Amino acid sequence: MKIAIFGTGYVGLVTGACLADKGHQVHCIDISEEKIALLKQATPPFYEPGLKELLQRGVDSGRLTFSTTPDISGAQVIFIAVGTPQSPNGSADLSAVFAVAHTIKERCTKGQVVVTKSTVPVGTAHILKTILGEDIYVASNPETLREGAAIQDFMSPDRIIVGAEDKEAFDALREVYSPFLIRDQNRIQEMNCASAELVKYGANTMLAMRISFINLLSQLCTHVGADIRDVRQGIGSDYRIGMHFLYPGPGFGGSCFPKDVSSLAFQLREAGVDPALVSATLSTNSAQQHHITRTILEHTKDSEAVGLWGLAFKANTDDVRDSASIFVSQQLLKHQKKLYVHDPQATHNYLKVQPHATTTTRQEMLKEIDVLVILTEWNEYRTLTQEELTLLQGKTIVDARNLLAREAELKKLREHNITYVGVGMRAT
Ligand code: UDX
Repeated sequence: MKIAIFGTGYVGLVTGACLADKGHQVHCIDISEEKIALLKQATPPFYEPGLKELLQRGVDSGRLTFSTTPDISGAQVIFIAVGTPQSPNGSADLSAVFAVAHTIKERCTKGQVVVTKSTVPVGTAHILKTILGEDIYVASNPETLREGAAIQDFMSPDRIIVGAEDKEAFDALREVYSPFLIRDQNRIQEMNCASAELVKYGANTMLAMRISFINLLSQLCTHVGADIRDVRQGIGSDYRIGMHFLYPGPGFGGSCFPKDVSSLAFQLREAGVDPALVSATLSTNSAQQHHITRTILEHTKDSEAVGLWGLAFKANTDDVRDSASIFVSQQLLKHQKKLYVHDPQATHNYLKVQPHATTTTRQEMLKEIDVLVILTEWNEYRTLTQEELTLLQGKTIVDARNLLAREAELKKLREHNITYVGVGMRAT
């Protein structure tokens, strides 16, 4: 099937590369000349495991093409996958979505199906229908990709949410996803557009709520002498709850949770429904960010140099949007600390936001600093080498992800007289 996709960010590019890999003819459109030039050479504009290989296969096979020209001729399905950033009042900014809709309006032909892949507030499909007119079908197919696992999530979806009002639209999306339905036709969940749009906000807010809740309990643990590792195990082993998205940390970041939860709170208020539970997810997250920052400042008040391991908002990405490293760095620099930073992928993006830090290898910094702060759950930070233990002798580690919180590692820290500060843990 011939498919067009507007937007080559995480969602649009991964969707395009995966659909091309499954045999579709995919044409990706973006307004950025620079991005399109990179993509034509199969160079991804951001780090995402496996994306480079997928792009290369798509470009080499001719099934994946890129242009700044909005050519949608012959495309049976047209995805809108442009950004919907948060507005100052918490609502989603849909200006890019509507700009694309008007571009499509000028070029579309009867029977084409326009699908929102971007996360858009409930009711957006209805507005698009008024823009695009009666001859065009509109559908909602919200993405469920995690950065750092986007290709895996696309290729092995738990479910494919499809909202539409016309049989033709459902049929077209069944054809798009037919390679994913061979074993299980029910992987596609069909509903109306409003329901599909709401599923996205509901799922993301539910996940964010779990994180805020475990972070809240981790703060209580500190006061009552409980250990969040045991509390998490005890709660998550209830089959109805499960262990996923129950890891305490510096607060959730990224380009999705903060904006999606804010948008759902806004939509609830607009509908006259009390958004307290959703708003509390955000305020609890903000409180966790401040709690972690206060803990770090408390343990660095006598030190001049601080090292950060982990700059990305989560592991396996180079994305620093709403990352803990940004607000922690701001506070440390405000307290005149010298900052040494390391991240396997995100340093270049971090320095664009926070240029006043020295980048080093993860070992080099240990010679210069008094306190090491771990902010991102990269696997390589889960163990310390003998050399690192020696360099950290008598110093302090503030571990905002409890990556080292395993008895074997903690024993090594004690043997090297290293003070360890975890999240919601008994003092070691
Ligand atoms: C999220 C949703 O998971 C995904 O389904 C949706 O399509 C887009 O938004 P993403 O923002 O890429 O994906 O990252 P995610 O893995 O959800 O993590 C979000 C934040 O929560 C990160 O800062 C992460 O470190 C944090 N997190 C995650 C925790 O603090 N604890 C956890 O247990 C899980």
